[in-house]
This record gives sequence, structure tokens and C-alpha cells, in this order.
Amino acid sequence: MIYPIVIYGSQTLRNKSVDIAPDYPELKKLIDDMFLTLTEASGVGLAAPQIGKNIRLFIVDCTPWGDDDPELADYKKVFINAEIYEVSEETDLFNEGCLSLPGLHEDVRRPVAIRMRYMDENFVEHDEEFDGLPARVIQHEYDHLEGKVFTDRVSPLRRNLLKGKMTKLANGKYRCAYKTK
Ligand code: NI
Repeated sequence: MIYPIVIYGSQTLRNKSVDIAPDYPELKKLIDDMFLTLTEASGVGLAAPQIGKNIRLFIVDCTPWGDDDPELADYKKVFINAEIYEVSEETDLFNEGCLSLPGLHEDVRRPVAIRMRYMDENFVEHDEEFDGLPARVIQHEYDHLEGKVFTDRVSPLRRNLLKGKMTKLANGKYRCAYKTK
């Protein structure tokens, strides 16, 4: 099934998400449905809070960048109970958007590389370094688990300028091509 995407203004996007156990009911189906939902919405990442579930699960699909970077041509990954425990001092800016904040795009500064422990879809533990576009998407999705959205990371001045648009989102005044709630 394709899930409706939770839009900014919902408390679900502000809650801190909790770890899940390997016996989480119908986890495989949930993951498959999240990929379906993400593809339908033409996104590159989706976190469980964005479909109304405050659990530490997110998926990343970097394949839309595969034409420019062959290494990303089949980059689809599942991250369960992830913990970022190290970030690079070096940061860069990247223009981000979010399926939960349709119509908004802002340059966000983040570390260029991270180290993270996580489980994959088979609950196999990994400890891995990420950089480039995957590190960017992972950090954005990880924020959703912590109850943060990307506009929390822009300057106070910039955020002030976005206030009107964000109030409209929270009040249901927006248009987008995918199912929302
Ligand atoms: Ni997002």
C-alpha cells in the first residue's frame, strides 16, 4: 500500500522515535510499502514518522542520482535503530526539500561525513562511514527520528522569512502531487 505522507504541523513529526525489535509486526511489508510510497512521491528518503509511525526506521533511495554517479545507480538502503556517533568537522551546504514540507527548499549546512551504527532490514548490525549524497540524505532522515525537520537547521533570519509558508503548511494550505494527511 502507498501511505499518505504526514505534513508539517503534525505532532508525529515532532516526537522522538523509539527503537524497534526484530519481531516488529510485518516489518518486511512495512519496508516494501515505504519504498512504494517514496517512489510514488519521487523522493530520495523517507522516515517512519512521515507515515505516522514514531519508530526508528528510515529508507534512502539515491538512484535518481544514478545517471550522474554510477555508484548510486542501485543505492537503496534500509536503516533500523540507527545511531550517528561521529560527524566530520567539515560541513557543506546543500539545497534540501522534504516530502513533509511540500514547496519548501532551503540550503542546509551539515557535516559532509558521518559514522553510524544501524541494523539493516535483516537486523544485521553495521558500523559504517557515509559521505557525499548518502550522508546528506541519511542525516536529513535521521533528524526525522529525533523530531526535527530541515527548516530547524536554517538561520533564524531565514526561518523567520519562511514562517508564513510554514503556517500555511500547518493549516493544510498547500498543493502536492502525492497523497498526504
Ligand atoms: Ni524529510
